[in-house]
Amino acid sequence: MKIAVLPGDGIGPEIVDEAVKVLKVLDLPFQLDEAKVGGAAFDAHGHPLPEHTLKLAMDSDAVLFGSVGDWKYDKLERHLRPEQAILGLRKNMGLFANFRPAICYPQLTHASSLKPELVAGLDILIIRELTGDIYFGQPRGRREAPDGEFKGAPEAFDTMRYSRPEIERIAHVAFQAARKRNKRVTSVDKANVLETFQFWKDVVTEVHAQYPDIELDHMYVDNAAMQLVKAPKKFDVLFTGNMFGDILSDAAAMLTGSIGMLPSASLNAKGQGLYEPSHGSAPDIAGKGVANPLATILSAAMMLRFSLNQEEAASRIERAVQAVLEQGLRTPDIFSEGTRKVGTVEMGEAVVAALKAQ
Ligand code: NAD
Ligand code: IPM
Ligand code: MN
Repeated sequence: MKIAVLPGDGIGPEIVDEAVKVLKVLDLPFQLDEAKVGGAAFDAHGHPLPEHTLKLAMDSDAVLFGSVGDWKYDKLERHLRPEQAILGLRKNMGLFANFRPAICYPQLTHASSLKPELVAGLDILIIRELTGDIYFGQPRGRREAPDGEFKGAPEAFDTMRYSRPEIERIAHVAFQAARKRNKRVTSVDKANVLETFQFWKDVVTEVHAQYPDIELDHMYVDNAAMQLVKAPKKFDVLFTGNMFGDILSDAAAMLTGSIGMLPSASLNAKGQGLYEPSHGSAPDIAGKGVANPLATILSAAMMLRFSLNQEEAASRIERAVQAVLEQGLRTPDIFSEGTRKVGTVEMGEAVVAALKAQ
């Protein structure tokens, strides 16, 4: 089982270290190969996604990714910025299906910024299309406004687009995932304004005809944002495009207590996957030893389940995380009265200890 380990920037190396410790206790035949990515790779090799890093990822069964980005790179030309590394990995590996499960563990009901009764028992699966939409549409750039009131003025533009096969394949993923859950899919769009998302809605409706056992409803993205904080438990599978999924998954993260709890899996058609926390490099807390490593550890569990066919090991990790929460250990982001505040390393080592104790 070849795993490419790409820690990246900011808190990336701190949280990936803990996930690697957890993997190592499992005593499975892993080959872990590490490479630089993001700002760290730019500093060392002049590019955020060097050829050898991309090749290592492409040749592996799975990628364990930390996070990339730092304000100090914001002035670089776009193609050299750290974020291009994760976008390049997603595109080059064809990782079109992004799973972001937002689960509120019973121990963290009081860590959420919402009232406990709204989040108790929450279990939503966000499925985000990851290689299309305005993220990758061409053309994009800067120019003089070609027409309108501000004709001739400098302007910037991006292209929002989705092709039929791109929508079809992710719709199948969403319906099939719903089959293993409560059989309800909410497709989130902006069909009332955007042609791209009217097309999305039409194609999703067509694909749905093949899944008569699944309940489908459609919701505009603005309403979805509201419903997520009003009555989040009404969702089962929340299914949407790349940009809306980016935004809604951060909002959903807070229902679980912290963005430091939200793992993710990004899969391609070959079953290869990249596993990363849904959060970023958190430059504001990097180097302080306080980042929550659980989203990354839970992403490693998803990696075992989805790419490495190790269901038992995956659920062992998930049980160990629950055990540690049960012991009352909390990084500052999920701390509440009556629990014990710990740092990144202590949290990771507690998961390791809980695994050994099973
Ligand atoms: P962020 O997710 O890094 O941080 C947002 C807030 O959440 C911060 O206050 C941070 O301290 C907190 N936070 C995030 N992860 C945490 C954790 N594990 N434990 C405790 N607190 C945590 O988002 P941002 O500040 O908007 O972006 C910072 C950088 O990260 C930017 O360069 C951005 O582009 C990049 N980014 C990268 C990825 C990725 O690598 N996939 C994802 C999102 C953002
Ligand atoms: C995420 C991040 C990325 C995204 C950035 C860093 C490119 O926010 O993984 O959610 O927008 O997809
Ligand atoms: Mn994001």
